[in-house]
Amino acid sequence: MLRSGLKPAHYLSPAVLAAEQESIFRSLWVFAGFGQVLKTPNAFLTRDIGGIPVVVQNFDGELRAFENLCAHRQMALQWEAYGKRSLICRYHGWAYDGNGCVKGIPNASLYRYAEAERAGLCLRRFAVRSIGNLVFVNLSPHPLPIEEQFHTEFLESLERASATFDDEIIHTSFPAAWNWKLNFENVLDPNHIQFIHPKTFYPLLGDGGQPVELELSPTILPIHEQMQAGAPVDLRDLSYAVHSPVAVSRPWYRDLVERYGELDDYYNWFIFPDVNFCSVHGQMFLLQQFSPVAADLTDFHLTVVTARRREPEADFSALLRELIRREKIVIDEDGVALSALQRQLHAGAPSAAHGDYESHIVRMLRWYAGAVARAAA
Ligand code: FES
Ligand SMILES: [Fe+2]
Repeated sequence: MLRSGLKPAHYLSPAVLAAEQESIFRSLWVFAGFGQVLKTPNAFLTRDIGGIPVVVQNFDGELRAFENLCAHRQMALQWEAYGKRSLICRYHGWAYDGNGCVKGIPNASLYRYAEAERAGLCLRRFAVRSIGNLVFVNLSPHPLPIEEQFHTEFLESLERASATFDDEIIHTSFPAAWNWKLNFENVLDPNHIQFIHPKTFYPLLGDGGQPVELELSPTILPIHEQMQAGAPVDLRDLSYAVHSPVAVSRPWYRDLVERYGELDDYYNWFIFPDVNFCSVHGQMFLLQQFSPVAADLTDFHLTVVTARRREPEADFSALLRELIRREKIVIDEDGVALSALQRQLHAGAPSAAHGDYESHIVRMLRWYAGAVARAAA
């Protein structure tokens, strides 16, 4: 049996949330959105990261990230998750330049700012890195090199997979009444699928309709040994890619889109701290992100995109709606379970007793516990 060292308080306490926002979400590179829809000037996305509202916007071809709060009276500058609009506040019309500094104030004579005061009206700027079509932001004033957070082969694989994305995405977000870590643990845990998704996801994992018995993967053994020995955990190991055969027949749109890879597989990329990016057959991609809002509340972001369409004129809107609808059914099955878990959890509850197959989860939680303890110290 393995123990992660986490207590129920790690899933319940506002103080723990504050420590993880600081030591994880405001220190690491965090996924912010899809770059292929930001290719034209003024295209933008918004996202809350580590409790900070962020806008990533295209300025003359370059992506820049700023705090999404007007320097005047803190109105959000951009309101939608994705859009295309100059960086101008909707409240009193202040306009910002590519450095995030105020370049225009309507009715300027009302304010009577001194010249030096006005010159200092700039937004907080953050580091941005595009890995293929996946855009990451780092809120730290001294961001660690992204290669210290992710293995180079992992970054290359994200880059190759996301390079096949089509330009049209479908995106939704909704509140989820559970701690964000429960969701990351859940996607790392193939053993729940049989029980939580018996009619939806589980039949797809078998071979020709016959469900397969799950076996301990040989790749988990070294991780298990590492955990048993209490060896230190490398942050880069927390994000990794796997793929396995899946019994989904090739979909009707298979010839309409290009493809990542050559396997009829289910691809999974776990991007620590809060993203599960996956693909069926390299033709349909799904990205789910679990952004913490409170100890028992998570912003669930869900985006679906296909591989690039072969016929630029083809209309994919109905297809994308249908794909995201089906994914949401499976996610809602997890939601019923995870919200029940969260509701019952209390400070005196026992800690998790992990089996060997959960060594990935234990590895992630041990690194996490160390980071949170350092922030709280
Ligand atoms: S709050 Fe933005 S212009 Fe007033
Ligand atoms: Fe699930």
